[in-house]
Amino acid sequence: MDENERLIWFNGAIVKLSDARISVLSPMAQFGANVFEGIRCYWSGNESQLYAFRLQAHYNRLLNSIKLFRMDFDHDETFFKNALIDVVKANMYKEDIAVRQTVFIDGDSGTWSSTGPVNMFISPIPKQRKTIPLNDGIRCHISSWLRINDNTLSPRMKCGANYINSRLAQQEALLCGYDSALFLNNLGFIAEGPGSCIFIVKNGVLITPSLTDSILESITRDTIIKLAEKELHLTVQERSITRTELYTCDEAFLCGSAAEVSPILEVDGMIIGDGQVGLLTKKLHSIYLKVVSGEYINYKNWLTPIYSL
Ligand SMILES: Cc1ncc(COP(=O)(O)O)c(C=O)c1O
Repeated sequence: MDENERLIWFNGAIVKLSDARISVLSPMAQFGANVFEGIRCYWSGNESQLYAFRLQAHYNRLLNSIKLFRMDFDHDETFFKNALIDVVKANMYKEDIAVRQTVFIDGDSGTWSSTGPVNMFISPIPKQRKTIPLNDGIRCHISSWLRINDNTLSPRMKCGANYINSRLAQQEALLCGYDSALFLNNLGFIAEGPGSCIFIVKNGVLITPSLTDSILESITRDTIIKLAEKELHLTVQERSITRTELYTCDEAFLCGSAAEVSPILEVDGMIIGDGQVGLLTKKLHSIYLKVVSGEYINYKNWLTPIYSL
């Protein structure tokens, strides 16, 4: 299907992309007044089924974002879930996809402090998983821009405006010849990437910044922690990480619904480990992809089938 022909869930109806239009005067258009989720659905060829991954966790986070943003919105998780299923089914996708589910302040006359009217769109698009084995990684740059923090614009609230901070760091990294940025927080510890969380491995221990280190409460981060402990019996530490700890670790990777597991091979010209994708990174990536596509029976409760059986 041509991407421009895809169907969008827009304010309660399923419409063509070209018919999903927002006013130029809406607080969404003028001030980026929106909160959103980026959700993945993975195709299981064995079961002929498309599975949405961890919808409950995504919708808990979306409801928290709506609350923090003080939007006048009183729908629940079932509303979010049914709308997502309806629009993915309408597009008849039978492949891996990414879904953007955005709740926004609509209307022709609002300001940056308006609490409504609130509307929603859901936009699915094909997006293939990273292939196994993971052979390549990225070079990162510690940004001169600090990550936003809980007392300025909280990274816990997944709103569009937070990504201006991400944009500044990513543009700087690209201009400096790197693939991606990494943020320090206002205390000088490693926070996260512009659109993903970070893990390092040191002496067989998996370490990731804590949820109070100016990061998004990432669902993939939570998934990786659980899989590392349960499937690989690793010790996982959630704690502050210093810059030099990152430079001297054995393995490092970014993770996120979009990034999945993305190995970091170099930071600021410092080679990580032996400069190759690490063993634990490869193992976690492989387990992650099996779990999201329904190959691990123990984690089926994280999956929502799109097509009725
Ligand atoms: C800033 C930021 N951190 C972390 C993540 C990873 O979050 P999740 O695993 O829930 O996709 C994202 C992904 O959207 C992000 O934008």
